[in-house]
Amino acid sequence: MSSKNTGRSAWKSRTGFILAAIGSAVGLGNIWRFSYLAYDNGGGAFLVPYLVALFTAGIPLLILEFGIGHERIGSAPLAFRKIGKNWEWLGWWPLLFTMFGIVLYYSVVIAWCFDFVFYSIDLAWGDDPGEFFFGTFLNLSSSPSEIGTVQPPILKGLFAVWLITWIIIVRGVSRGIELANRIFMPLLLVLTLILVFWSLNLEGAMIGISAYLKPDFAKLSDPEVWVQAYGQIFFTLSLGFGIMIAYASYMPYESNMTGSAVITALTNSAFSLLAGFGVFSILGFMSLSQNQPLEDVVQQSIGLAFVAYPKAISLIGEAGPFFGVLFFLSLTVAGVSSSISIVEAFVSGVQDKFGLNRRMLATVVCLFGFAGGIIFTTNAGLYWLDIVDHFINFYGIVVAALLECIVVGWFFRLDMIRKHMNNVSRIQLGPWWNWIIKLCLPLFLAVILLSQLVVELSRAYEGYSWASLIGIGWSWVAITFLVSFIFAVQPWKTESHLEKGRGEEL
Ligand code: ALA
Repeated sequence: MSSKNTGRSAWKSRTGFILAAIGSAVGLGNIWRFSYLAYDNGGGAFLVPYLVALFTAGIPLLILEFGIGHERIGSAPLAFRKIGKNWEWLGWWPLLFTMFGIVLYYSVVIAWCFDFVFYSIDLAWGDDPGEFFFGTFLNLSSSPSEIGTVQPPILKGLFAVWLITWIIIVRGVSRGIELANRIFMPLLLVLTLILVFWSLNLEGAMIGISAYLKPDFAKLSDPEVWVQAYGQIFFTLSLGFGIMIAYASYMPYESNMTGSAVITALTNSAFSLLAGFGVFSILGFMSLSQNQPLEDVVQQSIGLAFVAYPKAISLIGEAGPFFGVLFFLSLTVAGVSSSISIVEAFVSGVQDKFGLNRRMLATVVCLFGFAGGIIFTTNAGLYWLDIVDHFINFYGIVVAALLECIVVGWFFRLDMIRKHMNNVSRIQLGPWWNWIIKLCLPLFLAVILLSQLVVELSRAYEGYSWASLIGIGWSWVAITFLVSFIFAVQPWKTESHLEKGRGEEL
């Protein structure tokens, strides 16, 4: 570790850091969310905006977040406090809507995956996986306000997920998160490769693959596809979550940060594209064996992984259970490596500000995470999940990313961040990068947001009642936003906010 490093927790190696960043990025978003978005948006039609979003927004913003964390040496709140007294709240807000929003429902989806590992063994879904998932397993009520009761198998799964998260987080950065990702990431790659090659050999797989790879240029004129693609890039790279800022702050001085950002982003998307081959092969296989057009194979796309996959697993024959265990295990592993990053980002922020004992803090946060997730284990859980996911994605993540660009681009020395990144990295960023952050991205994100807002106000999302959308979706965003100011005005218990950034030491 360089002498210029600080007393913060630190990764043991650059590989450990990259693996952890990839672990955060690669998650349910790459398999579950990417697949249903690609399916909904016409398969190949989605890949073009997705890749455009990766290069125009994903990579430049990931470099920015790594730059903020590494140069300012702090979790998101500390880094933004060092950017300016008035901006600390912008560091807290993403931590709040991820810790008290995203991770609450995200861990419930991991719990579903965990339960389905066991259901795969004896194909518990029987002849009708749709009825099993929505009826028996979720026992879905008819609206978000009909909460009903908790589903015990989901609650037990949720407990297991939070227990694993807690064990990893209390062990700290290098002995917990880094070690877990050193095990999880290679394991995930092996599981996924087995699944994909297997799926590619199924009869009919090519029907799915050709739908996956065939671009539909007509779809490119649909703004909704672009909105979804940019939203997905932010979600999948954990951008606007505050995670990448905290992770970068744990790196020593000489760290080739820009290279790490490029490797992380490309690996993450390669993983999604690879997983997509598996998912679309399965859809092709189902389309052939059920004699149905590909677009009719799945009715409710959000349930794709939990309805279409089980159906396919039953159709595969003897090897089905093995295939099912592999699939749901890989989803579980991918999910846990991302959820620990969300919890770590919050723990790191609170530790920086209040200097609390890590073990106690991690315990309280995990208990809270478990308790907060219970609402998503009820009969109305899927509706709540859908609404919170939708609102936090657009009015949380995308807004936070937009504000990040504006604040660092216009109210801080963005060029110092660029020079710092160039100083520690092999890849050199030209002044063009400043303009992407200062102008192109904010303009583009503002257009996306406004067009999304117009749609939002003109029709009730997914036909939910306005009361549910305001009471759950808008309130969730607004409350976390307001609470970020409460956190920001508390006094600092440590001196860390007075330290200089690395770029200023040059
Ligand atoms: N980046 C994480 C995912 O894609 C949150 O699931």
